[in-house]
Amino acid sequence: MGNPIWIKNIGQLATLVSEEAGPRSKEAMSQLGIIEDGSLWIEDGMIKGVGSTQEVEQNFKTRIETAEVIDASGYLVTPGLIDPHTHVAFGGSREREFEMRLEGVSYMEIMNEGGGIHATTRMTRQATEEEIITQTKKRLDSFLQHGVTTVEGKSGYGMDIETELKQLRIMKELQETHPIDLVPTFMGAHAVPPEYKGREEEFVDYVINEMLPIVAEEQLAEFNDVFCEKDVFTPEQSERILEAGKKYGLIPKIHADEIVSYGGAELAAKVGAISAEHLLKASENGIKEMAKAGTIACLLPATALYLREEAADGRKMIDEGVAVAISTDCNPGSSPTTSMPLVMNLACISMRMTPAEALTAATYNAACAINRQHQIGSLEIGKQADVVLWNVKNYQELQYLFGVNHVKAVWKKGVKVVGNYEQTVATTT
Ligand code: NIG
Ligand code: FE
Repeated sequence: MGNPIWIKNIGQLATLVSEEAGPRSKEAMSQLGIIEDGSLWIEDGMIKGVGSTQEVEQNFKTRIETAEVIDASGYLVTPGLIDPHTHVAFGGSREREFEMRLEGVSYMEIMNEGGGIHATTRMTRQATEEEIITQTKKRLDSFLQHGVTTVEGKSGYGMDIETELKQLRIMKELQETHPIDLVPTFMGAHAVPPEYKGREEEFVDYVINEMLPIVAEEQLAEFNDVFCEKDVFTPEQSERILEAGKKYGLIPKIHADEIVSYGGAELAAKVGAISAEHLLKASENGIKEMAKAGTIACLLPATALYLREEAADGRKMIDEGVAVAISTDCNPGSSPTTSMPLVMNLACISMRMTPAEALTAATYNAACAINRQHQIGSLEIGKQADVVLWNVKNYQELQYLFGVNHVKAVWKKGVKVVGNYEQTVATTT
């Protein structure tokens, strides 16, 4: 199984361990379980020891000789980052739309004229599995380079059974062959495809009666997501789709209140969604309902920036008792990025979250948003050894030196997948 790994003398070890069980909100989002001069013992892909360097050395003293030793003096170590919301497996790209938006055409105008999600759907339908796998692998490699060790991925660029299944099977294959853990979500209701224009209810029936049963039978997804938005799916249609998914054991998620306030946050609470996404225009009442229901807000500040919109009010949501997670929303239209560090920076800059809250939102709370909090999201004995060594001295510096990739090394299930920790890259200070 290979030698144990002993990471010692860690300048600042943010374990993300807290007394609080379940998704964290309010003050609990600031509890990072910091250990100065910390240490980790990794074996068989798992965390076997956490504490001060002295403690871990004492506990494993008979085996120290057998370990690969990494001296992390002066550096920050955190759990691997988790991206709980992406559309990572798709064909083609849409750089021309980026220009069009800068020329003044809106995201929804582009989509209503057959571009946007529809353009990527055409390209995804046409592409071979091999082409999509090659493109998606590159994106997953880039996620790893940015310290991300688990990624949720949605279908939704098929909108017919064949292509939805193609996307989900591609994700399954990548889960088996790429070091990143890829968590699958079915999103057949991402938009109404042109062939169903004017027959929206029929498309909803198609998703419920034809797509959902096969996805469930082939066990291709854990979550069921829908784009609840004006001119896409109404709250009533969204509710039908999410309730139908529940009967097959698929946990609801919902793209809610992104462009206009549409009752999406309220619906998320009503159907017991594990998370509601975007929420730029969520109502006061919707936020309160989410806090009561324990629905996680999955906020996407890079999408807001890219669409030149004001970001969701993350500060207010945390203060109201909503647990906040953050994500890239990696997709070819509204957020073509794989940088979770940038998203953490933006959580602070655009949503007034503190550096500590941003780190919780990108690790432990992100794990909760994909139901993985018992395996990942914090560094504690018995959890997967998904670990990032950062070329900064503390978590504040990680958010303060923004727009830069500070990753020095990444271990996924105890295997080093990125970096050369011997090499020191100068920081900008
Ligand atoms: O989460 N809002 C809907 N879906 C994606 C964008 C998809 C696209 O533009 O291709 C999102 O932002
Ligand atoms: Fe999305």
